[in-house]
Amino acid sequence: MSAVSRSAGLAAAVGRAQAVQPSVPLAGVAGVAVGGILIEGLRKVYGRGDTAVEALKSVNMLVHPGEVVGLVGPSGSGKSTLLKCLGAIIEPTAGRMQLGSEWIYDDGWLVRDLRALRRDRIGFVFQAPYLIPFLNVTDNVALLPMLAGMANTRARDRALELLTALDVAHRAAARPSQLSGGEQQRVSIARALANRPPVILADEPTAPLDSERALAVVRILHRMAREAQTAIIVVTHDEKIIPTFKRIYHIRDGQTHEEAGQGVPVE
Ligand SMILES: Nc1ncnc2c1ncn2[C@@H]1O[C@H](COP(=O)(O)OP(=O)(O)OP(=O)(O)O)[C@@H](O)[C@H]1O
Ligand SMILES: [Mg+2]
Repeated sequence: MSAVSRSAGLAAAVGRAQAVQPSVPLAGVAGVAVGGILIEGLRKVYGRGDTAVEALKSVNMLVHPGEVVGLVGPSGSGKSTLLKCLGAIIEPTAGRMQLGSEWIYDDGWLVRDLRALRRDRIGFVFQAPYLIPFLNVTDNVALLPMLAGMANTRARDRALELLTALDVAHRAAARPSQLSGGEQQRVSIARALANRPPVILADEPTAPLDSERALAVVRILHRMAREAQTAIIVVTHDEKIIPTFKRIYHIRDGQTHEEAGQGVPVE
């Protein structure tokens, strides 16, 4: 497939994903363009009373469509908590979040079907890759496009395209338990990209990878951002990939601070 037709296909897929979600506009608030992420005053407290942990105090963040931003901070600073809130995996305590032109959270969820939100609009690369053990590698990646209604052969073709880009196509027929940790991580990255979601949240995606493969992952994320106008947040400690971000958010004591990155091209 040519780059042009792939872009058109990606744009159409993103458009469809946006179209199925009812919009909940809030009067008087400037929205971000389709595909972007906006977070304002996000707070997350785990537990109650004496054992409560305030993981996020007040997080503000903006990611434009087509942008890949880094999120860095010490262990326990709230990086995974932030991604899980934004990915509708856990419920924040307070604040506001916007995906595309839609507010999804304002001191409470504004979206009724959180499962559909996660499936259609967010690609999540978890810190520990979890793959479905009884499906082979190809079907682990092809599953979400199939669930979204794509023909099985097309979904498997797309899976193989991504597995090839991530240098793991030779393990396409294997079960996850037969893969190395780095191979499992690359398959889980392919799976997060398979539905071409408008938002990708990646938690330490390159941690188990050597530098060449880490850069291949970053290359595919930057390409995805550029071609499909995806908004991408990458949590990382990886010194090999930090210079590739144009903007970086630092998180410390549950608060974010923005900083310019080097934006070194990866292609
Ligand atoms: N389910 C939970 N219940 C209670 N506290 C939690 C829970 N999950 C995380 N925390 C606490 O919230 C804080 C932030 O955790 P989080 O996992 O977001 O950190 P992180 O920045 O991702 O760290 P790391 O770099 O080690 O992955 C930590 O103090 C952690 O112990
Ligand atoms: Mg974490």
